[in-house]
Amino acid sequence: SSISAHRGPLFHMLADPAEVGEEASYQYWEDGLLVVADGKIIAAGAYSDLLSTLPDGAVIENHPDSLIVPGFIDTHIHYPQTEMIGAFGKQLLEWLNTYTFPTERDFQDPQHARRVARVFLDELLKNGTTTALVFGTVHPESVDMFFEEALERNLRMICGKVMMDRNAPDYLCDTAESSYQDSKALLEKWHGKGRLLYAVTPRFAPTSTPEQLAAAGRLRQEHPDAYMHTHLSENLAECAWVKELFPQCANYLDVYDHYGLLGKRAVLAHGIHLCEDEWKRLHSSDSALAFCPTSNLFLGSGLFALEEAERHKVKVGLGTDVGGGTSFSLLQTLNEAYKVMQLRGQALTPFKSFYLATLGGARALELDHCLGGFTAGKEADFVVLDKRATPLLQLRMENCRSLAEQLFAFSILGDDRAIRATYAAGRCVHKK
Ligand code: GUN
Ligand code: FE
Repeated sequence: SSISAHRGPLFHMLADPAEVGEEASYQYWEDGLLVVADGKIIAAGAYSDLLSTLPDGAVIENHPDSLIVPGFIDTHIHYPQTEMIGAFGKQLLEWLNTYTFPTERDFQDPQHARRVARVFLDELLKNGTTTALVFGTVHPESVDMFFEEALERNLRMICGKVMMDRNAPDYLCDTAESSYQDSKALLEKWHGKGRLLYAVTPRFAPTSTPEQLAAAGRLRQEHPDAYMHTHLSENLAECAWVKELFPQCANYLDVYDHYGLLGKRAVLAHGIHLCEDEWKRLHSSDSALAFCPTSNLFLGSGLFALEEAERHKVKVGLGTDVGGGTSFSLLQTLNEAYKVMQLRGQALTPFKSFYLATLGGARALELDHCLGGFTAGKEADFVVLDKRATPLLQLRMENCRSLAEQLFAFSILGDDRAIRATYAAGRCVHKK
């Protein structure tokens, strides 16, 4: 086995600062060393402590003027919407009909799907995102193309075929039975292949019949180690529509609960308009939310209540939600998350921000045993942030008096230019 090592300022999160306090929540070595073998972390610590543990001839890569952090984790994104990012002027339901559905139609063509998947994965890596929970389209081929490209790059990625059998154009609809069969076949083909994992993916309650949600629940019961990925309570018109479509359910979350779709590895995007019962049920069912601030602002959906998630101990990851979201960068997503919290009269601290982008995302995906930090044995997915990315960032960094201020500056000023290099399973997959 070949050992490689990376020297530079090294930082990772150990826990949620809201739970254990800031001091106990992270580790930082100003002159650190990250030791990697066979795609896994062997050790992380001070250079002076670890140098003597390296075998003779081990290659050390130096990363001056940087900050080495765990790879970012995007817990909600749509790869087929790459080409319609930032489409003008509509809120959710009109935006879906005007821009999203026509764009997703093209993914019936596998060659188109592969081409977009390549651009999408390049964009993720360029932005330091090494793991994402990804929507495909209704077409099974869209998922095959995505997974083929992700497998080739040896990335830890989660994806699923959209299930939708009503309230959408005919050309994008499957049926309860075909969606079950197609999802099952994809799950059995891809879940656990390389680092890939499958998500059962009903689009959202309004585009599935009760029969389809029941079929999704059956599949989830048959494969409890797979994911469930959907949308929840994003927009007020959507919430009113769900109430009309499922009058027998107590609230929006209860629709998914009724069909057995909640639990560990269930990730629901948004959750903007939730009642107390829904917060309690998210906690008791051990489900997770994806906080998607750029999307929630762009589509005018509302302001996510991160402090409620903390109060109810609900797991939260960060999502870009491209193409409703406006950036692939989780740094830019943190920038908007900070402003959302400011509008709610709350402060999102720099450590909480980096927790959400790394270990918090890993926990939301139940992957913190292998992702989200530099503990020995975890997978070696990491990012080299560049303190000299631009003259402005360099100047701002020189003015910072603490690690917290540096982290904050990265989250406010940083974007893809701040990512000097990205490593997946120990291998460099992007270099500026
Ligand atoms: N709700 C249902 N489908 C979608 C989608 O594609 N994007 C977003 N943001 N919300 C949705
Ligand atoms: Fe979405």
